[in-house]
Amino acid sequence: MEPKAAIADLDRRYGIRDIAEIVAGNGGLAKVQITSAAARGEMYLHGAHVTSWQPGDAEEVLFASAKSRWEDGRAIRGGVPICFPWFANKAGDPAAPAHGFARTTAWQLESISQAGDAVTINMFTESNNDTKKRWPVDFHLVHRATFGSELKLELVVRNMGTTSFHFEEALHSYFRVGQIEKAQLHGLDGVQYVDKTDSNRKKLQHGPIAIVSETDRVYLNTKGVIELEDHQLRRRIRVGKENSLTTVVWNPWIEKAKAMADFGADEWMRMVCIETSNVSDFAVELAPGQQHKMQSTVRLADS
Ligand code: BG6
Repeated sequence: MEPKAAIADLDRRYGIRDIAEIVAGNGGLAKVQITSAAARGEMYLHGAHVTSWQPGDAEEVLFASAKSRWEDGRAIRGGVPICFPWFANKAGDPAAPAHGFARTTAWQLESISQAGDAVTINMFTESNNDTKKRWPVDFHLVHRATFGSELKLELVVRNMGTTSFHFEEALHSYFRVGQIEKAQLHGLDGVQYVDKTDSNRKKLQHGPIAIVSETDRVYLNTKGVIELEDHQLRRRIRVGKENSLTTVVWNPWIEKAKAMADFGADEWMRMVCIETSNVSDFAVELAPGQQHKMQSTVRLADS
């Protein structure tokens, strides 16, 4: 929770009157609230976490759990958590936080700008003594989110040190669906995936993906657009990407949902994660002085 005076100060320095305001969000955490002609949206400094995007008159596109915790040290359940610098558990370090530390870090707000009806928010975080205890490298990480008729998310990693490093990353996007059994994912037909619910066996996707049980898959070497067809809400969500070679598809289904303290028992019916990412064998190697930019672009279309 940020002191009210600090939030008011951020608003004075970076806010755009009536368009982008920095206010206290859930749990008193600072968020940027966007209200432009093209879209409404929200992004928290906690985790540089986008939690809402509604283009035009459309209904909310992102899922956020009613049971999410909104507090320092916890990841927000829903929206778009950033997984960095590792995905899932850190190899060789079982005590390290799952999905890395970026999603529980307090990021800095760098700028908010407007181009036409779209609003771009830049936040950054970088290495410090705490991050070096878990990951001994010098890095600078930017999350740039543009809220307009499309939602564009860019994650830029820079190597500020003198030796190369490896990292994994994911824009762990939770999409809201009307009813999961009436949704299908297109765009991964014929793609090989690792099935995390079946001892990491490698399998081949045949046709569209229907979510009919716990689903936790890493699709490999994926570059194309993925489309979430939602028959209940009568809409399609198109997720495009650049510089990302894996796509994670996740739905916890019934038992896992019950076991998660920050997730409602029935919420598995109304969400699916489609994660633009570079994980496992597709981790990125970054040389000193170099930067890597991964991008995810979300659009809505009628069904
Ligand atoms: C997915 C992983 O990306 O995130 C799953 O593939 C994991 O294995 C899920 O359960 C949620 O992770 P967390 O740490 O947010 O509960």
